[in-house]
Amino acid sequence: MSEYDIRPVTVDERRIAVDAFRTALLSGAVNDETFAAGRLSWDESDSLAAWDDDACVGVVAAFRFDSTVPGGERVQTAGVTRVGVVPTHTRRGLLTQLMHRLLRESRERGNVLATLHASETTIYRRFGFGLATDAVAAVITTRQTKPWRTGARAGTMRLLAHTEVLAIVPALYERVARARVGSISRPEWWWPRFLKDASQPTSEPYGKGTFVAVHTDADGADDGYVLYDVDWDETFAKNPTGAGRIRDLWGRSQKIEQELWRFLLDIDLITTWRAEIRPTDEPVRRAMHDSRAYEAVQRLDDQWVRILDVDAALTVRGYGATSDSVTIGVDDPMFPANTGAWRVSASGSTRSDQPADVRVDIATLSATYLGAVSWHDLASTGAVNASNQTLALLDTLFAVYPTPFCGTGY
Ligand SMILES: CC(C)(COP(=O)(O)OP(=O)(O)OC[C@H]1O[C@@H](n2cnc3c(N)ncnc32)[C@H](O)[C@@H]1OP(=O)(O)O)[C@@H](O)C(=O)NCCC(=O)NCCS
Repeated sequence: MSEYDIRPVTVDERRIAVDAFRTALLSGAVNDETFAAGRLSWDESDSLAAWDDDACVGVVAAFRFDSTVPGGERVQTAGVTRVGVVPTHTRRGLLTQLMHRLLRESRERGNVLATLHASETTIYRRFGFGLATDAVAAVITTRQTKPWRTGARAGTMRLLAHTEVLAIVPALYERVARARVGSISRPEWWWPRFLKDASQPTSEPYGKGTFVAVHTDADGADDGYVLYDVDWDETFAKNPTGAGRIRDLWGRSQKIEQELWRFLLDIDLITTWRAEIRPTDEPVRRAMHDSRAYEAVQRLDDQWVRILDVDAALTVRGYGATSDSVTIGVDDPMFPANTGAWRVSASGSTRSDQPADVRVDIATLSATYLGAVSWHDLASTGAVNASNQTLALLDTLFAVYPTPFCGTGY
């Protein structure tokens, strides 16, 4: 029995819980405007708080998403968020209690996966999360990218007015981005905040702004978009030094994404572009005259995954072509139903009572689940122990192209 009261956050307790979370994340209390703007995000999430008498000392929550898994199916996902314990109460097991309960209740609600972005990579493995997708931050020097290597343009670009943005971009994201394994649904409440600055009328001087540009294919269908900021000092210097920031870029295919890049890199006055979170395998640098113009300056963890229901997760997922099968043994101390063995082949996965070819803990299986992390790599670190033949088979079954990527902060 815990000495703290852990219970769902009521509507009246939300503001206290927000402030506890903000304290844990090193910020002051929320103001009225920000709190009001977050109302829907609370309505559409499941939140727990820990109380020490009437003081809120810890919070966790889960958004209700779905995630694209290998093969293209979408599975119900608990998007873990707002994790914090106030500094007066850390390291006494509060997060452990909150997270265990959140994951248990998320599984009971039918979630197949729990996912999160971590402030620190050391926190979540103990709860069964594995680092499932990576991202890069890239800096691109415009001048070095020309001439472009790919062929003639097949479509057109247009810039959206502020009044069009919310009507077009969320639906376009659903249509073009969700084929990417690892992508998640973006709730309706998420978009107005994300797009609030886009093409907004402004009193700013020239050179500062946020825009959305849409790509349309030769048949007139929109098939990609990019959200970007620009920052240029209106000085007529010999060498202009405008900087652009790519905030969200999705196309129906890698080729369309290259068209979006080409559009950005042709914008006058911008000498450097920075993209904070991009997939690790972006082919665009190969289309540039000098591939070093695209410099991956940082490699980041993108999304952590924790399989809540192994049977459902392995069943719904697609697998690569091979005539062989492999039996994977799984250990999950938190959920006994996840401990067992599954025979996996190109045609799918079934529970098995055969001896396992490889045995892994739930965090390791979760890391491999989306297909971005190689079983060979995990074996090289000692997380997996299996023959080379089994590892090759696992990589054939699990690997996915293009590399899975989430790309949505929450
Ligand atoms: C991360 C945080 C929620 C952990 O809460 P907590 O109540 O102290 O965690 P617990 O007491 O349940 O710790 C459980 C275990 O995890 C370890 N742990 C917890 N936080 C850790 C951290 N940041 N780094 C490394 N280990 C950590 C503890 O040492 C403990 O290990 P043990 O079981 O071997 O003793 C809290 O430190 C916090 O709010 N940090 C600032 C906000 C933040 O980073 N939130 C996460 C946003 S993604």
